[in-house]
Amino acid sequence: MLGRLNHVAIAAKDAEKSAKIYATAFGAEISAAVPLPEHGVITVFVTLPNTKIEFIQPLGETSPIAKFLERNPDGGIHHICYEVPDIVAARDTLIGEGARVLGDGKPRIGAHGKPVLFLHPKDFSGALVEIEQA
Ligand code: CO
Repeated sequence: MLGRLNHVAIAAKDAEKSAKIYATAFGAEISAAVPLPEHGVITVFVTLPNTKIEFIQPLGETSPIAKFLERNPDGGIHHICYEVPDIVAARDTLIGEGARVLGDGKPRIGAHGKPVLFLHPKDFSGALVEIEQA
């Protein structure tokens, strides 16, 4: 059921600035900054051979990562995202195992145009987990 590590998301006050050292010091490929108003974030991706790093910066007053940055003013790892072949089947299995799905439990279209869900950090050793339809 569990597929590739799709990305690790790092919250930052300035996503572009944070991603820049990956380009200058590691020679990594970084994307342009993409505002996602429906998710309340601006994203910048760093492409690695086997996964991505997703820098997320708050966008708007009600950004879901604003509180995280209040608690972690220097930024920090916000969530990890695993691919699953069938997000609805994965959700139902997870709920059956007692894991909590955040929000209304309905998959939403994420930053890559694919359905995603977030799982409660208390059920995953303190890590916020995103699952994305592969
Ligand atoms: Co993500």
